[in-house]
Formats: sequence, C-alpha cells, structure tokens
Amino acid sequence: MQGDNDQLASFWMPFTANRSYKAHPRQLVSASGMYYRSSDGREILDGTAGLWCSNAGHCRPEITEAIAKAAATLDFAPTFQLGHPLPFELAQRLAALMPEGLDRIFFTNSGSESVDTALKIALAIQRAKGQGARTRLIGRERGYHGTGFGGITVGGLVNNRRVFSTLSGADHLRHTHDLTRNAFTRGFPQHGAELADDLQRLVDLHGAETIAAVIVEPMAGSTGVLVPPVGYLQRLREICDRNGIILIFDEVITAFGRVGAATAAEAWGVIPDIITMAKGLTNAAVPMGAVAVKRELHDAVLDSVAGGIELFHGYTYSGHPLASAAGLATLDLYARDGLFDRANDLAACWEDAAHSLKGRRHVIDIRTIGLVAGIELEPRRGAPTARAMELFHAAFDDGLLVRATGDIIALSPPLIVEKDQIDEMFGKLGELLNAIE
Ligand SMILES: Cc1ncc(COP(=O)(O)O)c(C=O)c1O
Repeated sequence: MQGDNDQLASFWMPFTANRSYKAHPRQLVSASGMYYRSSDGREILDGTAGLWCSNAGHCRPEITEAIAKAAATLDFAPTFQLGHPLPFELAQRLAALMPEGLDRIFFTNSGSESVDTALKIALAIQRAKGQGARTRLIGRERGYHGTGFGGITVGGLVNNRRVFSTLSGADHLRHTHDLTRNAFTRGFPQHGAELADDLQRLVDLHGAETIAAVIVEPMAGSTGVLVPPVGYLQRLREICDRNGIILIFDEVITAFGRVGAATAAEAWGVIPDIITMAKGLTNAAVPMGAVAVKRELHDAVLDSVAGGIELFHGYTYSGHPLASAAGLATLDLYARDGLFDRANDLAACWEDAAHSLKGRRHVIDIRTIGLVAGIELEPRRGAPTARAMELFHAAFDDGLLVRATGDIIALSPPLIVEKDQIDEMFGKLGELLNAIE
C-alpha cells in the first residue's frame, strides 16, 4: 500500500481515504478550549467543535474531573435488571431540557445507535397501539443518520448506501436544497415549505396504515448545512398528525446549543415525538447518545406488555457510569456558562463574518443558522469534492480546522468561541479561497 508503514497501517480509519491519509498524516495530540495542538507543535483553531460535538470547548476540567471521579468510584455496572444512580440522575436532568412531554430517556453510545434505537422504538410504539402493519420508515434525500442499518436505510447519502443492503420498505422525501431560489440566505430559506408535502405524496402512494415514522435532521448537517425552509418542519408535523405517523427529529448535531436552545425543536417551535441526541451530550469526552420519547408513547409500550421486559433492546454500556458523569458535568457547564444562548448572542457577528465571503472565488452559496455555516464551492471540473478537500488541508496547515463535505465547507465552532476567533476563521478562509485553484 502506498504510504503504508507499521505505525499507521493497523488502524482502519473511519470515513477516511486511508491510503492518502497515511501518506500525508495530520495528527492532533492535545486540546484545550478553542484549540487543538498538532503533532508538529502548532495550535489549530477549532472551527468544527471536533466533529460537531465538543460544544463547551476542549478538556474542560469540570468534565475531566467528573470522569476521573466516576472511573475511580464505579468503573462499570450493568443497567440490565440492575441500576446505578448516575444515569437516573442524568435522564431526569436531560428530560428537563427537552421540549415539554419528551421526558422518557433511553441511553445509547453514539448517534448511530440513537437513530437505530429511535426507529425501533417507533416500531414498538405503533405495534403497542395496535398498528403493527405500520413498518415503513421514511427518511429524506441527503439525510445523514449514522451508519447502522436503520440509519443508512433512512439516510440519503448514496456513498453510505450503495455497497450495503438496506431494510425493505423505506422511502425518502426530497431534500430541500435549492440554490436557484435560496442562495446566500441568512437563516431560514424563504422557498421550499411545499417540499414537506412529499410526505403526503408518500402517504397517498403507500397508505398511511403502512408508515410507522418519518425521521429528519431539523437542519441537515453532514450533507453540508441545509437549513429548513420557513414553514417546512411545521408542515411535516401537521402531515404526521393527520396520518398517525411518528415524527423523529435527529438532533445529534443540533441539540445542546448549536442553534440557540437545548434543541432545534425548542428553538424553532416544532415538537416531534422522538428526539435523538449524542455528541454534545457529554461534550464528546466519553461516547454517549440518548433518545427522548414522549411520555404517553413510552407509556403505551410499557402498558402493552402484561409483565416482563417491555422493549427487547439495549446496550451493555447504556448509561455507562463514566459517560453519565461526563453528561452531568457537561449539562452543569452549559447551564453555568449560559452556552445555549451563545449562538443567539453571536448571531449577527457570525452571519456577517460568514457572508463576508460572498463574492470570493469559487463560492456559490453561503448558509448560516445558529453557530453553523455552510460555504458551498463550485465543484472543480472533472474532480468533484477536490476543491473543498484542498481547502480543508490548506486551512489545517494554516492553523484552522474546518469540515469538508462534498464541495461544501462546514463550520460549527465550540459555543465558547469569541468574536476575534470568528473573524480569524473567516479571514483565513477568505485568503485561502484566493490561494487555491
Ligand atoms: C444527524 C446525525 N445523526 C447521526 C449521526 C451519527 O452519529 P455517530 O457518528 O455518533 O454514530 C450523526 C453524525 O454526525 C449525525 O450528524
């Protein structure tokens, strides 16, 4: 293998061009606050909160100390037919942060597991309500819901699907990206609410009695920041209500302050039946995910079983002590430092800085919402995605971490970001856009 060497060869890296990475490795060795440090000793300004996850910034002592304490007190205890205090406390705290009514919490270890858990819970709810024929799951083109078989089934990114088989019966709404009508929008695009009517079209095609649930990211992140058009999510909610369909918001990216509230559901005033989370739940310091479910739907499942286990689902590490401790310390930090308000406080500065790149070479769209920006580049002729990847590498070499996805650069810094760091991010990107071909 080109660039193969003993030290790097064994780790089969996820979502990575392994050969090219191992030929030109870029490594991070430590982190603090807004900065990573690279193996060649440089500070790297974190424009992406790691992978949309370290919302409170890196290596916060309040979190690392809580993890150390938990590890020394109770390294592991099962949560199958037994319990320990921390996940009960965390579930209660998390329930209080969710939109009213979504106060029953199932713990997982990742976003992918949260999605598959949510889909299974939706099927269990339909069955408990005597609607066992509702087995169809609806996702959306360009959606990303992790890499489990449930997640890739409802997901809409072709590279994540084409090699693998998916679950039968699923269908997809069209995506909402519309450069012709919505380019360079600040906040919610004006056009596209009618795309939610795709759900009605699928109801008319398949029959409501076959559809269990629809899952969408309130803002599609991984595909390159697609902000929902004005009225779109509301319309989805209405169609679900009319047709007995469970609405799942995948908030693995949008929860925990990214769009100016604990959840996008709260920020944007559309309340789903189930919310999936991960990433910012523990500030990514220990892997953990969660699924919040409306109480009456949870109760329907519990009440449908006369005795014994109500849901045959779970993970060895559901509610792991270290993750639970990290989650509790993280929620404390978010509250103490008012981090969920930061996206609103910084909105004008963030938008102005991002949209200042309008007119730069290669830039065909800029989208912003909360503390998120997507900068779409004109694809290089014959080499789609190459330009954004080159910009990603150039930014890293210049001390800035951004995310490249397709031909889009995504930014989502830790919520502790300061105004001068925002200026630095977009200032650097502006210069690099001039420099790359
Ligand atoms: C919306 C959404 N769902 C699910 C996932 C999968 O999360 P994980 O990588 O923790 O499995 C992601 C990851 O980025 C995501 O953005």
